[in-house]
Amino acid sequence: MSMDRRKFLNLSSLGISSFTITGFIPKTVQDITGSSNVISNTVVNPVVVSTWDAGLAANLAAWKIIGIGGRALDAVENGVKVTEDEINCCVGLSGNPDRDGHVTLDASIMDHEFNCGSVAFLERIKHPISVARRVMEKTPHVMLVGEGAQQFALSEGFTLEPDTLSKDAKSSYENWLKKSEYKPVINIERKKATSQLDPSSMAPHKLINGDWNHDTIGMIALDSFGNLSGSCTTSGAGFKMRGRVGDSPVIGAGLYVDNEIGAVVATGQGEDVIRVAGASAVVEQMRQGKSPAEACKFVVERIRRIKKEKAKDIQVCFIALNKKGEAGAYALHKGFNYAVHNKEGNKLFESSSLD
Ligand code: GLY
Repeated sequence: MSMDRRKFLNLSSLGISSFTITGFIPKTVQDITGSSNVISNTVVNPVVVSTWDAGLAANLAAWKIIGIGGRALDAVENGVKVTEDEINCCVGLSGNPDRDGHVTLDASIMDHEFNCGSVAFLERIKHPISVARRVMEKTPHVMLVGEGAQQFALSEGFTLEPDTLSKDAKSSYENWLKKSEYKPVINIERKKATSQLDPSSMAPHKLINGDWNHDTIGMIALDSFGNLSGSCTTSGAGFKMRGRVGDSPVIGAGLYVDNEIGAVVATGQGEDVIRVAGASAVVEQMRQGKSPAEACKFVVERIRRIKKEKAKDIQVCFIALNKKGEAGAYALHKGFNYAVHNKEGNKLFESSSLD
């Protein structure tokens, strides 16, 4: 019998339900590499983990739900909606367009019972994550794309937004058109450095019109019931070919949840995450007994082996959360950060990486 199960049974015999043991205080521990990549949490204490510094604000919205005993599924949907509403390069309708000048959105969501839904190449709908959830809950399918996804969204009461670019995206696109080169910049999602970051890490990215061209918010959460869920939403790679879909809406690549083991979400170069079925591969490594950070590292190393020399030009990062509420992350290159909200607060951490 697992340690967690034993703990649960001991508490149950004292008349304490799984819900009431959320009152236990979580503790932060050092991971095996000596960095603060792992947050250890007594089982069924809620925790939410998100990619990049944008995750701090998203976590706050998610915490309003799981922090008071709500469901992880509701938390991960509402959390990333905050980022979809923000003006940023890489998520929601304010994101950078494809090379034909249209913003196209990808999103996915997965709950603790292998229910999942996603949308890809969706245009003019403000909250693709909520459309993905409707696909999961109201259709016999897992994924809807393009015009069909938009039709479904409209039939569900979503509003068709204008086909216009945000001020920043318009300016980036006009700048990009001067050369029309597809050349994603790594760590473009990162907005700012914070005092919690390793001083040797990269400086805050200076945003230059035309180089805002990637990426994603991903969120994974464990609720007081001990259930895991995850979400992932993006406008994808800026200036991509029309019709390009990344890893974010691909269940098993950009997002995967197995409630017996853990939840994983990816950010970075979607093509290289799809190639290795990234999120699912990380879950399988946790199943073999690896910690979340070790499991993420294992799959990042596989990507580096596959990409060889080309690995220097891409960024791929994973965040993972196991059933015990332990979180970890790993990236191909330094510069990736992620936000963890538990009962101790909402903090940003610098991910370990291969360089
Ligand atoms: N990771 C997001 C994308 O490649 O579209």
